[in-house]
Amino acid sequence: MQISVVISIVAILASGVVASEVGSESRPKKSQAAVSQAAMVPPTRLGELTRLAGVRTDKGAFGHNYTEVYERFLFQWKNAPIRICEIGIEKGGSLGLWNDYFPRASIFAIDIEDKASMQNARTKTFIADQSKRDQLETFIQTFGGNFDFLLDDGGHTMDQQQISLGFLFKFVRPGGYYILEDIHTSLPAFYPGYGVEPDGSNSTLAMIERYVRGNPPKFESKYMLPEEMRYLNENVEFANLNFRNDSEHSIMCIFKKKQKH
Ligand SMILES: C[S@@+](CC[C@H](N)C(=O)[O-])C[C@H]1O[C@@H](n2cnc3c(N)ncnc32)[C@H](O)[C@@H]1O
Repeated sequence: MQISVVISIVAILASGVVASEVGSESRPKKSQAAVSQAAMVPPTRLGELTRLAGVRTDKGAFGHNYTEVYERFLFQWKNAPIRICEIGIEKGGSLGLWNDYFPRASIFAIDIEDKASMQNARTKTFIADQSKRDQLETFIQTFGGNFDFLLDDGGHTMDQQQISLGFLFKFVRPGGYYILEDIHTSLPAFYPGYGVEPDGSNSTLAMIERYVRGNPPKFESKYMLPEEMRYLNENVEFANLNFRNDSEHSIMCIFKKKQKH
């Protein structure tokens, strides 16, 4: 019950509604920019990202169906020369999807295993453990930051998810997104073995719920450095938490970075 309230609030925020406060008493108003941006998206075009996902990645309808949500955020950059970063390559299914949907994008991908065979003219791979800040730092030194969007579809343990978010959020460009997939690993009753402690307070889902319920919203993570939490608190515009429980649990969160003042 409480989760669905939170989801409604963040969904409203993601749709471009500007709320002066997060709470049931707030009276949101749509910004002019959000209205004109929504008007620019022809509804008949939506569905392409899911169609292109097919069965090559579980981001599509055959798996978690995240693409249904992603397209509404990412459509705006379809033909732009954007910079994408993804943690987690496996067989390269999602890298192929980004290549096909964003024909002008540069794609940078991290995996703990060597995935150099997946490289092409627009796609570069890098070996790194997402829970090691020094290795992520080397990745940034090699390829730069300023990503339009960055996805974490790596190992999905609590420390990996939160260290990567804390370290890499500063390398999302202002107005861009950090997408954290498969947060259902925070539910040990369904997905044991991802590092959730007995009281559950260290889980990534608990961290996000504390953030969206907070007044003011505040990141608190045992895995993040104080300066990382401060940066998130100052630079996250909203968290759009998506929770779907049809064929399997599919929890994903999109963090938007504030535009520069
Ligand atoms: C779910 S698969 C990625 C699937 C891919 N994104 C797709 O949609 O087609 C997870 C990948 O994360 C990688 N991985 C696991 N632990 C990691 C870590 N600590 N750091 C970086 N990558 C990791 C695995 O080697 C695996 O290739």
